[in-house]
Amino acid sequence: MKNLEKVEKEALEKIEKAQDRNELESIRIHYFGRKSGILTILAGELPKLPNQEKRKVGPVFNKVKNSLQKALAEKSGNFQEAKSTNTQEPKNLEMGEDLPFDPTIPGRSQNIASSHPLTSVVDEVKEIFHYLGFSWVDGPEVELDLYNFQKLLIPKDHPSRDVQQTYYINDELLLRTHTSPMQVRYMETHQPPIRIISPGRAYRRDMPDATHLPDFLQIEGLLVDTETSMTDLMGSLDFFAKRMFGESSRVRFYGHNFPYTEPSIEIEVFHEKQGWIEILGAGMVHPEVLRGSGVDPEKYRGWAFGMGPNRLAMLKYGIDDIRALYSSDLRFLKQF
Ligand code: PHE
Repeated sequence: MKNLEKVEKEALEKIEKAQDRNELESIRIHYFGRKSGILTILAGELPKLPNQEKRKVGPVFNKVKNSLQKALAEKSGNFQEAKSTNTQEPKNLEMGEDLPFDPTIPGRSQNIASSHPLTSVVDEVKEIFHYLGFSWVDGPEVELDLYNFQKLLIPKDHPSRDVQQTYYINDELLLRTHTSPMQVRYMETHQPPIRIISPGRAYRRDMPDATHLPDFLQIEGLLVDTETSMTDLMGSLDFFAKRMFGESSRVRFYGHNFPYTEPSIEIEVFHEKQGWIEILGAGMVHPEVLRGSGVDPEKYRGWAFGMGPNRLAMLKYGIDDIRALYSSDLRFLKQF
């Protein structure tokens, strides 16, 4: 009984002196901790006493217990008020002592997804051309023959229709074979000056192999203004290629032929293993395409390009099979 009273006195003093919640919490644990709290242990001893003793000690024990609990609660209330503006203070938690969690369990690893290489490439192209003042627009994948071919000077019997093997929906409707119809759509609805890129899907009846898929991405670019020329086109594309593949990358231009641009060019980038790889077609927009889209070719000139992000991604990340870009194999995807 004497000990109990001593414990009470000591404890009350400690509680009184406690400076903050942490200190109070360790006092609480010292006396009431589930395993080794002094009062917890004493409570365990009580039942072992002979009945007579029990009757005497029991009430004293309860009195001490209650008074300490009351003192703890009061003191804790004080801290609560004082620190109501700072509720983030960490609790002083001791192993096995009323922890809301088990700190010995290893943490769960977090699987943070990253961008798919195609998404990264498209974003990068957008960013580079954004820097040059181009905004981006979206266009329909189900397109009119009129826009996909005719307004781009590819009439029904034109031989280049063979090259662009088309998925037709009916006589007038098809899955676009390139993003170039967006040039026409945009010029019809907007006044120059125009600077846009239009990324999206295109479709051709190709057998899937290491370099072809029936469904792929393209990014169309179009600039229309009063003062612009082939030099601007080539300069911009050179700038683009260097940004994309590094300042030291080698780029070359080739004469080419597209019905809707005159003159037309192709660009190739040098790849360590694969040699020269074509990444885009481009040219000065044919005056008849301008006229057909409501832009006066006497007043304005335009240039356009179309590139394949699948190729760009393969070049940039050293992927040698285009089909890998559409696989859901985590061993592939986790590399990016
Ligand atoms: N549409 C062409 C293609 O699919 C690329 C291109 C776009 C060429 C714009 C010239 C101008 O290959």
